[in-house]
Amino acid sequence: MRRLYSSFLHKNMPFTKIMVMFFLALFSFILACKKSPSVEAPVSTYTTTPYSIKVPKGFPQPNIPADNPMTVEGVTLGRFLFYDSILSYNYKQSCASCHRQQFAFSNGNVQFSKGADGISIGDRNAPALFNKAWDLEGTPPYGGFFWDGRAKSLEDQALMPLVNPKEMALSDVSVAVTRLQSTNMYPDLFKKAFGSSTVTKENIGKAIAQFMRIIVSGNSLYDSVKNHILPDFVNSDQKNGYNLFIHDPIFKADSVRYPNTIEPYSGLDCFHCHAPPFFTPDPASLKPFMNNGLTGINSSGDSITLFKVPSVRNVLLTAPFMHDGEFANLDSVIAHYDHGYSAIHSPYLSDFMFYKRFGKNSKMKLTPNEIKQVKAFLASLTDYTLITNPEYKNPFLK
Ligand code: HEC
Ligand code: HEC
Repeated sequence: MRRLYSSFLHKNMPFTKIMVMFFLALFSFILACKKSPSVEAPVSTYTTTPYSIKVPKGFPQPNIPADNPMTVEGVTLGRFLFYDSILSYNYKQSCASCHRQQFAFSNGNVQFSKGADGISIGDRNAPALFNKAWDLEGTPPYGGFFWDGRAKSLEDQALMPLVNPKEMALSDVSVAVTRLQSTNMYPDLFKKAFGSSTVTKENIGKAIAQFMRIIVSGNSLYDSVKNHILPDFVNSDQKNGYNLFIHDPIFKADSVRYPNTIEPYSGLDCFHCHAPPFFTPDPASLKPFMNNGLTGINSSGDSITLFKVPSVRNVLLTAPFMHDGEFANLDSVIAHYDHGYSAIHSPYLSDFMFYKRFGKNSKMKLTPNEIKQVKAFLASLTDYTLITNPEYKNPFLK
């Protein structure tokens, strides 16, 4: 640009004229720079690629927070962080130590996970992690994360295990910030994802939340039937189990449920709280936190009566069950719903539990055959692509 203006300068022009022209030139140079910063401003390396979550057929669009849009770069960073034991005080534990892909990101048969020290034991069962992009944010009973909903959003949740003394046990999240900042790889990954190579607490939370949101499960046998990829369930147990699951019970005069024989179906009323497609409460009519007869105690000794209703997708992979993993298998879960005597007397019981809806003398009385059928249906909700999807795997093992 300067060369262009200098061609106007004649050797024998009066000095003042030269000065006027110089300032005019300088002024228009500044203006030009202002108008199109791309001409002279340093080239920015911050360009992100939008990431679109693969929404299974029959699922609505997820709610992505406006201040944390999904990007390929954010997801990549979040995935590294999820699998990196740099985030635990002794470099021995990552998120994935307790949330393992082969068990639908639950901790397999472990009732209470051990912390990074290998000694401390928590008092909650590590839940499976999938379809979290559709969970409602907020405070219970309207939304939130963890069994008791104490984290408002996935962004907030992601930082909590880092400083939980029974988990990754850092003295402060700032330790994670300092450690990541001093690595070779992370400053660059943060720059690509968020435009600055300065690692921040906020961006750690955002990146991990983005990775959480891409873990989707909607590819089970049940989904194939629902989406007409398969004409029907593979066997009659699955189909009868489905009908038990999605129908209200019908009771005889003695308050015992008719067994499920022919239409109209006499079901078990599971679908209110475990409604398709997520097998969690339908937000249009119910809140995501409920009581199915079980209670717990929080860290301050107060009783917890509302728990986040877990999805029953992938339960073949996620035993033991419930917030405290008290049921080792599905038979125990079904027995609880069939004759959960403590539940019948629980004052906190949700109005949607059948004893409340149909009277406390009402009895499900499942037959052994019906138990087998419910289990067959639950097994049909297993998504084997969830546990093999390479996008969710440990990126350090590539
Ligand atoms: C020591 C084992 C352990 C580690 C390490 C761990 N978690 Fe968890 N996670 C759990 C347990 C146990 C719960 C349930 C705790 C509760 O509800 O009080 C949980 C709950 C969650 C939830 C809530 C799910 C929901 O539906 O509300 C998310 C999300 C999650 N963990 C993600 C992570 C991430 C991300 C990390 C790493 C930053 C991580 N976890 C590290 C054991 C662990
Ligand atoms: C009133 C709502 C409600 C109804 C109706 C209901 N559930 Fe649940 N379900 C819950 C809640 C709440 C939990 C978690 C409770 C806890 O952790 O203490 C749960 C947990 C489960 C779990 C454990 C999942 C896990 O990952 O730990 C399974 C399996 C299950 N329910 C199956 C069923 C079946 C089968 C039926 C029908 C017979 C049924 N539910 C009816 C609310 C309900």
